[in-house]
Amino acid sequence: MMKILAIESSCDETAAAVVEDGRTVLSSVIASQVEEHRLYGGVVPEIASRRHAEAIVPVVTEALAQAELTLADIDALAVTYAPGLIGALLVGVNFAKGLSLSAGLPLVPVHHLRSHIASNYISNPELKPPFLCLVVSGGHSHIVMAEDYTKMTIIGRTRDDAAGEAFDKAARTMGMPYPGGIELDKVAEDGDPHAFKLPRPIVHGAPYDFSFSGLKTAVLNLLHNAAQKGEELNKADVCASFRYAVVDCLVTNFVKAAQDLGVTKLVIAGGVSANSLLRRTLAAACEQRGWELYMPEKALCGDNAAMVGAQGYYEFISGRRADSDLNAYATMSIEEG
Ligand code: KG4
Ligand code: ZN
Repeated sequence: MMKILAIESSCDETAAAVVEDGRTVLSSVIASQVEEHRLYGGVVPEIASRRHAEAIVPVVTEALAQAELTLADIDALAVTYAPGLIGALLVGVNFAKGLSLSAGLPLVPVHHLRSHIASNYISNPELKPPFLCLVVSGGHSHIVMAEDYTKMTIIGRTRDDAAGEAFDKAARTMGMPYPGGIELDKVAEDGDPHAFKLPRPIVHGAPYDFSFSGLKTAVLNLLHNAAQKGEELNKADVCASFRYAVVDCLVTNFVKAAQDLGVTKLVIAGGVSANSLLRRTLAAACEQRGWELYMPEKALCGDNAAMVGAQGYYEFISGRRADSDLNAYATMSIEEG
């Protein structure tokens, strides 16, 4: 049995967790800063770094306490080192490096998007690679072939906004607080997805790539035109139509990629994998084709450290180690990981 203490600080959540053998969560603590960033309509990097620095010690202490363990019971440390806000990542990375040195524990660097995928190993104990994964978060939208736990190939990517970013921008346009994706999803449940015709942007010559920035503009135009005519649009209908357009693009390309590659095991991950319509639509598409579909439980879709402990385990057994010169990186391909 291998116990990993994992740390995550890539964006606006300071998190720590203890995970056993990559699959069993012994504790998971998340200190969210979202309320504070909401005042500014988005994450303010300077504030994020400060709050991480304040929260990291209590959060790690709490993760050990909830697992009823001490550092002496821990076999290795895992930390998110890329991609993300550089100042935010550095808080976790520097803390983990110090702890690794002082406690004499091996340190494993973990790629944030790989850890999102690994949230599925916790929610679905029987899941093993290879599979095709749709990774949709606030900063990234990828279709990734996971050949193994630590070997991944990007099949498709967004050319502009990430799916979560598109949801957040559209929500903000409609006056919803940051991060609006969650609320937009809720409001959309009461709307008609066919009320407004929105484009389904495609990227010519790259059938698995996404483009969402035009969709945001389309919603803006819809709202402005109505405002100029003094019309009040049904907010639920706008949300439902927008959500349908984004999910349609995601599902169409994901299913096409699976078909073309002959893969029948599909996985979703990242903050947007909590989206109700995405989950329902993919479940139906996979059931119709007799494909397997795996999703993280909703509590593990957003940023957390349990998923870092899960991926950290597989990185560890593949021989991955960091030493005291480990750096943080704002950008890093999931393939390099
Ligand atoms: O993975 P995540 O927690 O952080 C990043 O790594 O970026 O993703 C956050 C994103 C935000 O854009 C948020 O609005 C979006 O995930 N999100 C959703 C839903 N829940 C979270 N988007 C649509 N529907 C949801 N239910
Ligand atoms: Zn994330």
